[in-house]
Amino acid sequence: MEKITVRDARKEDAADIARLIVLAWPVEEFLAMQEGLTVEGFTDIIRTFVEDETTLYGYNFTKVAELESGDGSVGKIVGIMNGYDGAMYGTLKKPVSEALKRKFESGGDFDKVVETGPGEFYLDSAAVDPSMRSRGIGSMLFEAMIRKASEAGFHAVGLIVDEDKPKAEALYQRLGFTTVGYRDFLGHRMKHMQKNI
Ligand SMILES: CC(C)(COP(=O)(O)OP(=O)(O)OC[C@H]1O[C@@H](n2cnc3c(N)ncnc32)[C@H](O)[C@@H]1OP(=O)(O)O)[C@@H](O)C(=O)NCCC(=O)NCCS
Repeated sequence: MEKITVRDARKEDAADIARLIVLAWPVEEFLAMQEGLTVEGFTDIIRTFVEDETTLYGYNFTKVAELESGDGSVGKIVGIMNGYDGAMYGTLKKPVSEALKRKFESGGDFDKVVETGPGEFYLDSAAVDPSMRSRGIGSMLFEAMIRKASEAGFHAVGLIVDEDKPKAEALYQRLGFTTVGYRDFLGHRMKHMQKNI
């Protein structure tokens, strides 16, 4: 029997987590800006951030959804979500911005993005393997992260969503998030949504 379990990520999950984070990013834009960069190369850069506990992609801020097929084989990571105290955003983003600046001419643009701030537990990236979507895995990850935020004493969780992603927004609305403002993300107008917990 197939079974999905949500658990805290481990360092050795980094390559799987990076593969999924890249699905949630506007990766084509990064690749277009950097000659010779491949999806594999970019994923490997993200993997180094996931392995680093001082970045906002650190495995220590991440939960994974693992699929066990019930035949005794090793579980497969099919979904991820990372989240952290919004007040830590600047500190956790710094090593990422610096590495991107060193690697890419356009990397400095990431510096200008302000996704979150004090007063909310911020849900940064969510991604589920394309072949496993619409089975409730994303919702399970939200539930686990919101529980973590609540246990840590937060009263609000926040996220941003691209205005061009109505399906994702519909999911967030269903989970109880409402729009509280707008933020700019590398030229995309994003809705800032929050849920009181
Ligand atoms: C958003 C996402 C994490 C949801 O995961 P999920 O496991 O499909 O979530 P659930 O099964 O709990 O809920 C499904 C709902 O998610 C929404 N959704 C958002 N994007 C979707 C997508 N690309 N494909 C399918 N459903 C999507 C729909 O409202 C869907 O409802 P439906 O099944 O009635 O159509 C997943 O679709 C995904 O990885 N999308 C691409 C990456 C992304 O856009 N991440 C968010 C920005 S960081």
